Amino acid sequence: MEKKFKRTLVTSALPYANGPVHIGHLAGVYVPADIYVRYLRLKGEDVLFIGGSDEHGVPVTIRAKKEGCTPQDVVDRYHNIIKESFEGFGISFDVYSRTTSATHREVASDFFKKLYDEGKFVELESEQYYDEGEQQFLTDRNIKGECPRCHAADAYGDQCEKCGATLSPDELINPYNADSGNPLVKRKTTHWYLPLNDYQQWLEQWILNDHKEWRSNVYGQCKSWLDTGLKPRAVTRDLNWGIPVPVEGAEGKVLYVWFDAPIGYISNTKELLPDTWETWWKDEDTRLLHFIGKDNIVFHCIVFPSMLKAHGDYILPENVPSNEFLNLEDDKISTSRNWAVWLNEYLVDFPGKQDVLRYVLTANAPETKDNNFTWKDFQARNNNELVAVYGNFVNRALVLTKKYFDGKVPACGELTEYDKGIIDEFVNVKSEVEKLLDQFKFREAQKEAMNLARIGNRYLAETEPWKLAKSDLSRVATILNISLQLVANLAIAFEPFLPFSSKKLRGMLAMETFEWSSLGSLTLMAEGHELGEVGLLFEKIEDETIQAQLDRLERIKAENKAANYKANPIRANVEFDDFTKLDIRVGTVLECAKVPKASKLLQFKIDDGLEGRTIVSGIAAHFNPEELVGKQVCFVANLAPRTIRGIVSEGMILSAEDNEGKLSLLTVSPEAKPGSEVK
Ligand code: 2FM
Ligand code: ZN
Repeated sequence: MEKKFKRTLVTSALPYANGPVHIGHLAGVYVPADIYVRYLRLKGEDVLFIGGSDEHGVPVTIRAKKEGCTPQDVVDRYHNIIKESFEGFGISFDVYSRTTSATHREVASDFFKKLYDEGKFVELESEQYYDEGEQQFLTDRNIKGECPRCHAADAYGDQCEKCGATLSPDELINPYNADSGNPLVKRKTTHWYLPLNDYQQWLEQWILNDHKEWRSNVYGQCKSWLDTGLKPRAVTRDLNWGIPVPVEGAEGKVLYVWFDAPIGYISNTKELLPDTWETWWKDEDTRLLHFIGKDNIVFHCIVFPSMLKAHGDYILPENVPSNEFLNLEDDKISTSRNWAVWLNEYLVDFPGKQDVLRYVLTANAPETKDNNFTWKDFQARNNNELVAVYGNFVNRALVLTKKYFDGKVPACGELTEYDKGIIDEFVNVKSEVEKLLDQFKFREAQKEAMNLARIGNRYLAETEPWKLAKSDLSRVATILNISLQLVANLAIAFEPFLPFSSKKLRGMLAMETFEWSSLGSLTLMAEGHELGEVGLLFEKIEDETIQAQLDRLERIKAENKAANYKANPIRANVEFDDFTKLDIRVGTVLECAKVPKASKLLQFKIDDGLEGRTIVSGIAAHFNPEELVGKQVCFVANLAPRTIRGIVSEGMILSAEDNEGKLSLLTVSPEAKPGSEVK
């Protein structure tokens, strides 16, 4: 039999505070966690939702160096941006703190100390690269050198970006510090390792036997780690940003970011509930759930549980609902390439439309496989589902009640067989939504909630109360009573998914009772109850709005392409005398036309400040001849004449060609007189 827990502790991965958060974060972790937590709260369960920023680690230090500020400045800035974004989207954390807090430093330090004192770590000495000038050890990513495979000059210590080879710093030829450029030497350093191999057997039992119900992507990844065999993992680093290793003689060393970050869940709970936090972490009646993205699976299913086990006082996660990745317009979301929809920007571009994004991200949730976000789908789901189904049903029910019954819930008369069928249908949907939410199947659960709205929409479309007003007002009353009950049910069913809209809808209904247990009830709206002010629940999103977002992405694509653009290498030097042999002049294009039957050729008549001349040039594919007339161009004036297609060409028009073959004409400002020499 399944264990009954007294309370549920939900954690969501602590995002790195080295950049803003984007739709991938929201879809992968925070919206599903928030749906689940809201659902439990509505059911009246005891639940706590923990969030916070992950503020240590090398990327923060790299960013600080780039921006010429301190790591603390970086995390202060992004912690606030991230926190506001989550608030903006209604992610209902009970606490959102940070790993640079004093509480966290203490909790993480004590955690390490306990394991250290009890001999749970192994201490190992190894040789690592060291920059004597900067007096620091370097992480793999901070080391560059010549690639041993393709001999690119600037391969990273973990990978060569030119040939794609996976590398270790030891393989690089002439390694150097990527920041300072200094050459590196090997130096001995000591670190503490968590001997995961000691926990292998226990983990096999705990995950592979006792938690077969975990999502298959999570279970599968764990199995593959376990099948490969676990090795000791270093939990400290030589770095000057992080929580100092609380051991004598460990100066200049900090806890590895992946050691301290998950402890942040504990610290943040303690910060919120200084007196009772232990109930949430140490009582077997607490159900612990980690919501994460797939790149975090090993840390939450293998490393952190081993840490908790080694510590001994803490409970272990019951489940780790992890999602796969979300792509954007068929391309991987990437912070460094700015290929993302940033949440802080969305909130500015789409004020009041947080639920639309929540809805679309859940509808496309990457629960079992990677999924894709497109702006066209975003628009379609808003217009065809939120507006046309949910919004339309609500609006019709409320407006008709205002019109025929003065905004008061009319009396429900006798039910027809058809009414009864409709009611049965939506009572079933309720239990279906519950079952799916209990299994963390948010995407399907939301679909079922939308089915409730579809049922309502169909009911009104088929009963057509607006046609009965004159002949049978009491039947209209019954239809609208049932419809209003359905609308009230929708406000409840959608609350976990679309909290802003549910709030708005409750206002329109002037609805008082609001709990999950009353879902399915047909007496939520008492007869005679007066509705509030009616407005639109959702609005159509126009093509221009979507086009503006697509244009932005196009611009980013172009910028990325330009940033990656590298000109061809420079050719061998020439002597100055050789250069001066060329007579380059400015000329005005007097005439320009295509050469008949020669698709590539243009024939120019040029004012060269002397007698004028004809030039034939093979650039027809790149220019429209009419547009060149009147332009000041540059041409080689002393090129020996050549006959091309029977035309004597006296020179060569100059243009610039990039390494992708795109041409632009070399022009000069209009003041330059024809015949001016280019030197
Ligand atoms: O992948 C990440 O964004 C990590 N910062 C997640 C950390 S989760 C937990 F351990 F704090
Ligand atoms: Zn290479």
